[in-house]
Amino acid sequence: MRAILHADKEWGIGKSNGLMFRIPADMKFFRETTTDNVVVMGSNTLKSFPEGKPLKNRTNVVLYPDGEDRDDCKIVRSLDELFAEIKKYDSDKVFVIGGAMMYKTLLPYCTEVLVTKVDAVGGADAYFENLDANPNFTLTHKSEPVETNGYIVNFCTYKNENVKEY
Ligand SMILES: NC(=O)c1ccc[n+]([C@@H]2O[C@H](COP(=O)([O-])OP(=O)(O)OC[C@H]3O[C@@H](n4cnc5c(N)ncnc54)[C@H](OP(=O)(O)O)[C@@H]3O)[C@@H](O)[C@H]2O)c1
Repeated sequence: MRAILHADKEWGIGKSNGLMFRIPADMKFFRETTTDNVVVMGSNTLKSFPEGKPLKNRTNVVLYPDGEDRDDCKIVRSLDELFAEIKKYDSDKVFVIGGAMMYKTLLPYCTEVLVTKVDAVGGADAYFENLDANPNFTLTHKSEPVETNGYIVNFCTYKNENVKEY
């Protein structure tokens, strides 16, 4: 599985259970990368979506320990249940889409992390780990800077050199 996110210069990823930036090029990349695939998230990320609804045209799997079963997404209540669910899919099709707690939990199992790095500081209260300081991760791709909605972003890929099995 892979993780996908955008982060500011300090690896901040969110504020007040929402995103800090509206970045059209990142939204397009996210949509194109995840559509028709499986997205894995924590309960707060589901709640942060408009009307608390899952993402369209994707299989949504949500780790929500006290959540009720529902028709529009798969609720799992433990990490064991989550792994059993995502084992049903080709791991290349599975994307961890947040939030902070979910990224932290699943980072060791991710083969790659796709990070849109935003050249700004957004005043975050939720963070991703600094992968530049993690010896298990190597930066394998960094795009040319792209300007979008007044922000400069680079699309980056980090490879996990020490992937944990699930
Ligand atoms: N920049 C980006 O690309 C991006 C993407 C997504 C989200 N975000 C941001 O991230 C922030 C939210 O982060 P968050 O950590 O609060 O949200 P989260 O990871 O979506 O949700 C946390 C909740 O998920 C469940 N959970 C997660 N890991 C678990 C584990 N290992 N075991 C059991 N339950 C687990 C728990 O649910 P219960 O509380 O129900 O028990 C936990 O309270 C927001 O600001 C959001 O906008 C940013």
